[in-house]
Amino acid sequence: MNFIDIIRKKRDGFELTKEEIEFFAFSAANETVPDYQLSAMLMAIYLNGLNERETLDLTTAMAHSGDMADLSAIDGVKGDKHSTGGVGDKTTLIVAPIAAECDVKIAKMSGRGLGHTGGTVDKLESIPGFKTSLETEEFFAAVNACGLCVAGQSGRLCPADKKLYGLRDVTATVDNMPLIASSIMSKKLAGGADCIVLDVKCGSGAFMKDASSATSLAEKMVEIGRGAGRRGAALITDMDVPLGHNIGNSLEVIEAVETLKGNGPEDLTRISVLLAAKLLQLAGKGSFEECQTLAKSKIDDGTALNKLAEMVAAQGGNAEYIRNPSLFEAAKHSFEVKAAENGYIAHMDAEGIGSVCVALGAGRMRKEDSIDPSAGIILHRKTGDYVEKGEAVATLYASDNSLFAAACEKFAQSVEFSAERPALNPLLLGVVE
Ligand code: URA
Repeated sequence: MNFIDIIRKKRDGFELTKEEIEFFAFSAANETVPDYQLSAMLMAIYLNGLNERETLDLTTAMAHSGDMADLSAIDGVKGDKHSTGGVGDKTTLIVAPIAAECDVKIAKMSGRGLGHTGGTVDKLESIPGFKTSLETEEFFAAVNACGLCVAGQSGRLCPADKKLYGLRDVTATVDNMPLIASSIMSKKLAGGADCIVLDVKCGSGAFMKDASSATSLAEKMVEIGRGAGRRGAALITDMDVPLGHNIGNSLEVIEAVETLKGNGPEDLTRISVLLAAKLLQLAGKGSFEECQTLAKSKIDDGTALNKLAEMVAAQGGNAEYIRNPSLFEAAKHSFEVKAAENGYIAHMDAEGIGSVCVALGAGRMRKEDSIDPSAGIILHRKTGDYVEKGEAVATLYASDNSLFAAACEKFAQSVEFSAERPALNPLLLGVVE
């Protein structure tokens, strides 16, 4: 099969056969085709789409591009959780230990930052010593040892997605429904969990900007899971405003720890409890309401926090950082952004704020870029808050002082003020079961 012919076919808007899609996925996994051809193919898909059958074929081919995890050696129900990506979204660090503490084993493959959104793997790697690159056997051993493991796409699980994810991040081909659905669901199918909860983000900081595209992505992914015999559900949650206050890798670990101590921001705590509860419900632990109470109890009694510390230690990280987050090294430089006028914050463009974070060093512009774990933003005020002129709206953190001028300008463009108090979106916009 000739790869150029396949690119041309999709470029010209034709439907690809199962064999052509498998050739694409396996070429990505085995790196038998250069990055520029894979990138051209991604752009052709981005522009011309994939139909339902092609999306399912791509998901299946990517899932089978490496090992399919067999979790039967792990006792009990196995659960997994995945977000479509947002700004300040550190819910995995809260949901996974809650679920593990309720006897739902979590064997989770996570991603790095993608576009303007952060990634759990980058966040966890801000903990000194934490290993996200695990061989399949190490991954299972960690789940067996402490009930949860969150690893990157290393070893032999889903190598096609690992390759394509990295290329999408730097070729403006992220926000595309079939590419997101196949990327997420291939990892979830290869990961082998029985129950899968999906957090489909919607709004200015999400890849799906409106409720109808978020619902359609949620339905597509739940359907792929069902077709593969998994119990799945998706919560559609608001991402018009960044989640919580901290954005950036170590800053987000710190906020997740605070949330597990019961001191987290309301929006982050609520979404985390809802996601954990939906996963527990899928795992047969009770009704959605009962599972919310159960999830909250694991925050209140401190056991979910201990579970996170246990996971960090099991993956080689220094668990002292979880017990005492002030150990995280602060960024060398900080800069306060002040309100230019009196008024309510009427809108925050969460994608713009995520991009400011990337520009401060918390994300990547090129595939080979390394990230700055301490870079990021703390939002002191968010949409709906009243601010006085000159009051600090946010603090920006970076290792390089010269990054602040452009970052401040972009931040200012991302925040709108109004004399009227704006209406806020509900946090939970829908559920797809
Ligand atoms: N998360 C993923 O794993 N893949 C995507 O494409 C988007 C979010």
